[in-house]
Amino acid sequence: MIFQLTEEQNLIRNMVREFAETEIAPTAKKRDEEERFDRPLMFDKLGELGLTGIVFPEEYGGAGADYISYAIAVEELSRVCASTGVTLSAHLSLCANPIYLFGSEEQKQKYLVPLAAGEKLGAFGLTEPSAGSDAGGTKTTALRDGDEWILNGTKIFITSGGDAETYVIFARTDKEAKKHNGISAFIIEKGAAGFSFGKKEEKLGIRSSPTMELVFENCRLPAANLLGKEGEGFKVAMKTLDGGRIGIASQAIGIAQGAFETAVDYAKERKQFDTPIGKFQGIQFQLADMFTQIEAARLLVYKAAYRASKGLNYSTDSAMAKLMASETAMKVTTQAVQVLGGYGYTREFPVERMMRDAKITEIYEGTSEIQRLVIGSALIK
Ligand code: CAA
Ligand code: FAD
Repeated sequence: MIFQLTEEQNLIRNMVREFAETEIAPTAKKRDEEERFDRPLMFDKLGELGLTGIVFPEEYGGAGADYISYAIAVEELSRVCASTGVTLSAHLSLCANPIYLFGSEEQKQKYLVPLAAGEKLGAFGLTEPSAGSDAGGTKTTALRDGDEWILNGTKIFITSGGDAETYVIFARTDKEAKKHNGISAFIIEKGAAGFSFGKKEEKLGIRSSPTMELVFENCRLPAANLLGKEGEGFKVAMKTLDGGRIGIASQAIGIAQGAFETAVDYAKERKQFDTPIGKFQGIQFQLADMFTQIEAARLLVYKAAYRASKGLNYSTDSAMAKLMASETAMKVTTQAVQVLGGYGYTREFPVERMMRDAKITEIYEGTSEIQRLVIGSALIK
């Protein structure tokens, strides 16, 4: 085991940090207040930096880097703006990656290449009004009609919905099959007849990342848009989420790191009782716990990312990483608000936004309860 980043990983961290601090951070507060997604800044520029396809081979428009580099990129973006972090994570892990893993060569050329190059933004539609944690309860249907599939149903809470051009969607192709059986994956493009957008969510956090409802009303798709084998969509979803959880865990680490650094800087400056509050052991102990928890969680994230890059099984690792990192983000951001006292509760400092942003990491891509279920069932098996 080598607990040291490679030269390439360090270069990526420096590059993304500089970009995040100079270009993303200055508008993070305003975008949050206005609930505004700034695509040229939050996505197109990531493409110019080579981040939108960072883990894919160069032949598919990627940068050929490893999963730790990807984790670092999401972490550094999320350190200043969690909405930008999830934009990259949902695009790469949830849309481009299943096409890379399960797509035919033709699908990779047609869909993956422009996604990896950052020319198209991707999204992933699994959740439905009555199928959230129970993803096997998918009700959207895709029925075969000659050379086409006809989709009907609704997907909710879709990150980048409306703005994305390419969607990986899950629908039931066998109405008789029970639970997770009989579900298939599809690639659908914005503009397809019968595919429209519904409600846009108003949220507690990650307010600069759009979350939208997708509606399919007799949406006709060519047979060639089936992704992977018919009836094996649930496994496509689960394998996709294994990777996605590394992205969200990295987002959580970034949020926690941003809040922690703000708390340290503040503790050095703020005086009470004629003393910088950072000199009080009560504050130092809080900072020590925050730092230790972030580092422990980060190691779990990098371990899962390392295993993903080496082609080892990492389902349990990514569930542990996501569970630990998201709960750490919630603890650390709450504590950061405490260290800043009343100012921490105001919008003058970014920690209140970070605390609001942290909460979603315990919910999406499987709630903390679902991560415990994934880890627990692997232990019993
Ligand atoms: N890889 C491959 N196969 C897997 C797998 C994995 N990681 N996990 C399960 N499977 C397989 C099982 O082996 C089983 O296969 P067989 O039928 O051959 O035996 C099959 O899938 C069913 O497995 P389970 O019995 O475990 O399935 P379940 O119905 O009990 O559900 C679950 C399992 C883990 C709870 C799953 O439903 C789940 O992950 N739910 C959470 C949904 C979720 O995370 N949604 C995220 C939406 S995306 C998002 O939120 C986006 C964002 O953040 C930006
Ligand atoms: P429910 O499943 O109804 O859960 C409610 C509560 O019950 C939770 O606390 C849960 O942990 C608990 N619970 C459920 N089952 C169990 C159990 N077996 N044991 C113990 N406790 C249990 N989905 C997508 O497909 N694509 C996206 O891009 C996407 N982006 C999102 C962005 C945002 C901002 C949000 C809020 C959600 C997004 N989602 C997306 C959906 C997200 O993945 C779901 O919200 C999440 O999986 C939980 O599902 P649910 O909301 O239906 O909650």
